[in-house]
Amino acid sequence: MNNGIGKVLITEAEIKHKVSELAQRLTAEYEHKGLTIIGVLNGSLIFLSDLIRHIPFPVKIDTVRANTYIGTSTVSKAETDIVNDISLNIKDEHVLIVDDILDTGKTLSRIVQVIKGHNPMSIQVCVLLSKEARRETEIVPDYCCFEIENKFVVGYGLDFDNKYRNLPYIAVLENNG
Ligand code: IMP
Ligand code: MG
Repeated sequence: MNNGIGKVLITEAEIKHKVSELAQRLTAEYEHKGLTIIGVLNGSLIFLSDLIRHIPFPVKIDTVRANTYIGTSTVSKAETDIVNDISLNIKDEHVLIVDDILDTGKTLSRIVQVIKGHNPMSIQVCVLLSKEARRETEIVPDYCCFEIENKFVVGYGLDFDNKYRNLPYIAVLENNG
């Protein structure tokens, strides 16, 4: 394919399979105690919307917006700004934070810290992708669909310069790894 898209790393079918498997694991863990899912915008949009439609019990959903990447940079900023905090009251609730990818871990570490401040009963972290080689923080995801190599990827919610989020698969960005 052209448009700057390189090799497909994870196909649409592989994603579908993992997402439904993940929903089953979450159902087993949370069905009887309840669950509030907090999606990190914008990257988690596609993953979040597919995942929640595989969950058969009533979940509450909210979002948080964080800024880690600016402009066309593929290098993480040193600081993460939480631009929009949640609006639901999650005190004493079981919370699952959902994001597209765990890279250095700075974004999710900061988000976990902010969410902890709302005094939930428990917090777990769920990501579609993880690049362990890039980690700069202690954070370990409780749920991770795919561990990937150290390459910049796009699709299924992940962007470069705000483009490519709508691809139904995960691909390497050409000339970028
Ligand atoms: P971290 O704070 O370094 O873990 O960065 C996490 C955020 O950076 C993710 O939520 C993504 O929005 C973005 N990011 C990291 N790696 C990639 C990538 O390979 N493609 C697209 N976005 C990425
Ligand atoms: Mg993101």
